[in-house]
Amino acid sequence: MEDDGVPVEDLLKLKLIVVGNQGTGKSCILNRFVNETFEENYQATIGLDFQSKNVTIHDQDVRLILYDTAGQEKFRSLIPMYIREAQIILLIYDISDRESFDSMPKWIQQVLDVKNSEVVFVLIGNKNDLENERKVTYEEGKKFAEENNFIFQEVSAKNGNNFEKLFEVQIFEAIYNKFKNEFDKREKMGYEEQVNYETNEYANNNNNDNKVKLENNISQNVKKKKRCC
Ligand code: GTP
Ligand code: MG
Repeated sequence: MEDDGVPVEDLLKLKLIVVGNQGTGKSCILNRFVNETFEENYQATIGLDFQSKNVTIHDQDVRLILYDTAGQEKFRSLIPMYIREAQIILLIYDISDRESFDSMPKWIQQVLDVKNSEVVFVLIGNKNDLENERKVTYEEGKKFAEENNFIFQEVSAKNGNNFEKLFEVQIFEAIYNKFKNEFDKREKMGYEEQVNYETNEYANNNNNDNKVKLENNISQNVKKKKRCC
């Protein structure tokens, strides 16, 4: 049983994954979101970590499974199999590290290479407390996100800037809109039907139409960049 009395198996389960270059703050973002903590000392993620957090979205209890990937090159081969399972993709760059922003098309392509169902894409410029070291403007991040139909926000995992707005407003609303059928279905379901009902069955189906829709959502801009670099 969970603290609020809802058995774990009854919760709508969604998987969220963070990807991006090494040291951009992926682990710190998840730690800020889950535990409201921040670690100044850099501890590179080894392989892959995961955490979970129960949240409430439009009066539904949702269990978010959070996959924290490693930016280091040697662990990259592990990432596709977790991307495949995820419904929410957080693309992280560091506003004080130009290369991390320029790598975004490559990360997006990694997702498109394996993903065949609809997902929520979120572009996050982290470390916006480092204004003096900024190498990527807010406008550049926003434009890139708009061109690709992604959610966008700049945050600071260090001081928590914009976290509530990003997660509880932008991401939760996008989840609700993307999986509205699922939310509606569950609302109508009786207790017994909910047990053992996995979101994966809905979101991970191998529907080629969804793949086409997803690829069409990504602007030609990303694909061009991938070809040229
Ligand atoms: P890998 O696991 O190696 O891919 O790195 P990561 O992306 O998980 O980065 P991590 O969260 O470990 O953070 C890397 C470094 O950046 C750490 O020293 C953090 O303290 C620092 N950091 C993370 N977020 C912020 C932030 O918002 N502001 C500042 N100033 N530093 C941050
Ligand atoms: Mg990490």
